Amino acid sequence: MTPRALGAERFVPPSDDLGRLREAAAACEGCDLFRDATRTVFGTGPERARLVLAGEQPGDHEDKSGKPFTGPSGGLLDRALDRAGIDCEGVYLTNAVKHFKFARLQQNGRRIHKKPTRGEATACRPWLLAELNAVRPELVVALGATAAKSLMGPDFRVTVQRGAVHDLAIDGLDEATALLATVHPASVLRLREPEREDAFAAMVADLSKAAEFIAAGPRR
Ligand code: URA
Ligand code: SF4
Repeated sequence: MTPRALGAERFVPPSDDLGRLREAAAACEGCDLFRDATRTVFGTGPERARLVLAGEQPGDHEDKSGKPFTGPSGGLLDRALDRAGIDCEGVYLTNAVKHFKFARLQQNGRRIHKKPTRGEATACRPWLLAELNAVRPELVVALGATAAKSLMGPDFRVTVQRGAVHDLAIDGLDEATALLATVHPASVLRLREPEREDAFAAMVADLSKAAEFIAAGPRR
């Protein structure tokens, strides 16, 4: 019997070099999700970025491309960032969970996204913290509940606490930073018009708060 996976901790090198972290993450077996997914999808972006965006987990597209937010959710996210006046080139993009979790449809074998459990998010959290320690952003934008709860704890409610800047001071994070939560782009994509347009506008409003926070300059 294989021993129960105990989380990513033992795979994370004590380094703030993103290249080293990315290389080590490729071999992570910190939870069972590495077994069926194609690859670890690590974050991408500048080594130092003032803004980090954290999604839930890679989807079908990202599992193939190896990069976060390259599928439909990424398309919507790009449009929302553009509307909020955020240059996506300067942003570090990542996910709370680094392997794609899915179920196969019996009819056609298509891979359907499955939400990661809290245990999987906890197992993968050391990678997210290592990325934050390396990139040292002033603000982390959590896209949806998985990233928000991973960083703010299980009582955080995106629906109630979205669009506001919260302190982010966690054990294992060298520097205190700040967090703002908004919805996940996939939750907007799932809606029909006119609800979709309203949800998109609300997401842009949250991201505009993030842009304002960054424009106001570093807090330290
Ligand atoms: N959804 C996410 O949360 N992350 C991705 O990278 C793609 C879709
Ligand atoms: Fe490791 Fe995270 Fe992948 Fe689980 S999801 S195997 S903890 S990288």
